[in-house]
Amino acid sequence: MSENNPEIQINNQISESIEKELEAKETKRGRKPKEKEEKKAFTISELPGVGPATAEKLEEAGYTTLMSLAVTSPAELVEIAGVTEATARKIINVSRNKLDIGFMSGDELLKKRENIVRITTGSNAFDTLLQGGVETNAITEVYGEFGSSKTQLGHQLAVNAQLPKEKGGAEGMVCYIDSEGTARPERIKQMAEALGLDPIKILKNIKFIRAFNSDHQMLIVDKIEDLIKKDNLPIKLVVVDSLMSHFRADFSGRGQLADRQQKLNKHLHSLMRLAETHDLAVYVTNQVMANPAVFFGDPTTAVGGHILAHASSVRIYVRKGKKGTRVARVIDAPSIPDSECAFKVTQDGIRDVE
Ligand code: GTP
Ligand code: MG
Repeated sequence: MSENNPEIQINNQISESIEKELEAKETKRGRKPKEKEEKKAFTISELPGVGPATAEKLEEAGYTTLMSLAVTSPAELVEIAGVTEATARKIINVSRNKLDIGFMSGDELLKKRENIVRITTGSNAFDTLLQGGVETNAITEVYGEFGSSKTQLGHQLAVNAQLPKEKGGAEGMVCYIDSEGTARPERIKQMAEALGLDPIKILKNIKFIRAFNSDHQMLIVDKIEDLIKKDNLPIKLVVVDSLMSHFRADFSGRGQLADRQQKLNKHLHSLMRLAETHDLAVYVTNQVMANPAVFFGDPTTAVGGHILAHASSVRIYVRKGKKGTRVARVIDAPSIPDSECAFKVTQDGIRDVE
């Protein structure tokens, strides 16, 4: 094999681009964190009417920033933090006043949007449906029944995220949070080989972690922040497969729904923050309840209800189609019209239906 071999070239490109990213982070070190520290100095316990107990409740419920308080409603604060409506209004108003809203001029916004990277799914039809692929700076949620390909898609994205940008990748590393014990490195190997990539290099760039319960899963997200900030790993994709299973198991009793939603809210806030501050893509999977009557009535409704629907930037419903195909439908995405596409899971990974 010679250096002209396209497979070798892609492999070299992958390691080079990731190394470059690492170098760039190294040179930035020591300067950037300081700016951030200064901004963080304000804590929500300094808000009027917020004692330590209320502050704790707010933080538990995911209100860890002024922004999250500024955009909430008084009724929600009354319910979650147990404050009076007058106090709730005060908290919200003060948050709004203190908040540096951070107006961005049109050209700056355009530039930020242009920096968004879309990771290919492996299927052209699916990429077209998503207007390019799975976006960075966003949470993409795929929900569907068992065997609908949620995990396979997670594996495929973990490979594809490492590709050079012109090949539909994000030139980055991957963190794979496995809550169901279904992550399969040998399947990743197979998918990498199908693309002519070095499977060992690909596997080295994926940090797998098994989440044992919902608290552990939440803690892992904080640790990813460390991987990026302290260890300078250029992580561009975080997979959470599945998002809800531990939350369902840990809060399964009667009357625990509110607690569960609060924790879940917090978890999603951390994931969203991770996606936005580090320009990475977050891919989460979610089951559809076997007995829809237990939950919200609609069989196409994902577990988790409204909070989840609100937090995911792109929601995709996948179901089994004819002749072993799979059908993906985008649900209420801000910029993607509701439409469907077919794809399939082959030996090589996610591909188009011929
Ligand atoms: P749950 O986690 O049970 O809710 O399902 P899921 O949506 O995660 O399904 P998953 O992605 O695990 O599997 C989807 C389909 O992919 C399976 O029904 C298989 O048909 C197919 N599949 C899984 N592994 C392989 C493989 O190694 N080769 C091939 N050709 N197909 C596979
Ligand atoms: Mg699965």
